[in-house]
Amino acid sequence: MRVDLPIPFELSVPHVRWHTSWLEAAAEFAATGEFQHGSGLTPDGEPPFRPELPAWRPAELTDPGRFAAFIAHLRRLEDPGVVRPLALVPDTKLWLTRGEVYLGALSLRHELNEYLFEQGGHIGYSVRPSMRRRGLATATLQRALVLAGGLGLARVLVTCEGTNLGSAAVIERCGGVLEDVRGAMRRYWIDLPR
Ligand SMILES: CC(C)(COP(=O)(O)OP(=O)(O)OC[C@H]1O[C@@H](n2cnc3c(N)ncnc32)[C@H](O)[C@@H]1OP(=O)(O)O)[C@@H](O)C(=O)NCCC(=O)NCCS
Repeated sequence: MRVDLPIPFELSVPHVRWHTSWLEAAAEFAATGEFQHGSGLTPDGEPPFRPELPAWRPAELTDPGRFAAFIAHLRRLEDPGVVRPLALVPDTKLWLTRGEVYLGALSLRHELNEYLFEQGGHIGYSVRPSMRRRGLATATLQRALVLAGGLGLARVLVTCEGTNLGSAAVIERCGGVLEDVRGAMRRYWIDLPR
């Protein structure tokens, strides 16, 4: 596996201290029309993943109280006692940050359900448009693989749409081996060191 040396960044537990920078990043995503994978947001025009769950849309998250509720929601997602009754898998949500600047999002699902096995995979990530092509996504996936090994996983599934050349390059740089293409999704497995 190639080890990139991107700009320094941390993987941080989501916190309201990044509200201003998070909103600036959300505006960048809105301008490009891209969805922020791994963020926990609900895609525009789509219902929540399950009808009984709240939707989290960037436009509402300008409100500090709503943003604080979003943060609390993200932090609860890795608690099996919270997510299992909702038929969700535990999911660690982390943010790429540098000081007070929000750089992007990472989602590490602790296991696969049927949807994740077919489409979503274990790991989702996004880098804000103004911070791309600096090796951040590659370094983030590399760090996520270490975290996945710490969860006891022997291998992880990482997927991307066939048109997402950037994400495919990131996955392949991190050792992804293409198993197949299901619908629009390329499905890669990465073996983790024991
Ligand atoms: C895909 C994404 C995460 C890449 O983030 P990034 O930080 O720019 O990625 P890296 O800098 O680690 O890129 C590594 C390599 O991938 C390739 N790459 C990255 N973006 C690319 C693009 N838009 N087109 C073609 N190749 C690209 C390049 O080979 C790049 O290396 P180089 O800059 O030395 O040429 C980012 O574009 C993004 O957040 N997109 C929207 C959300 C998304 O698609 N997430 C992935 C879901 S599967």
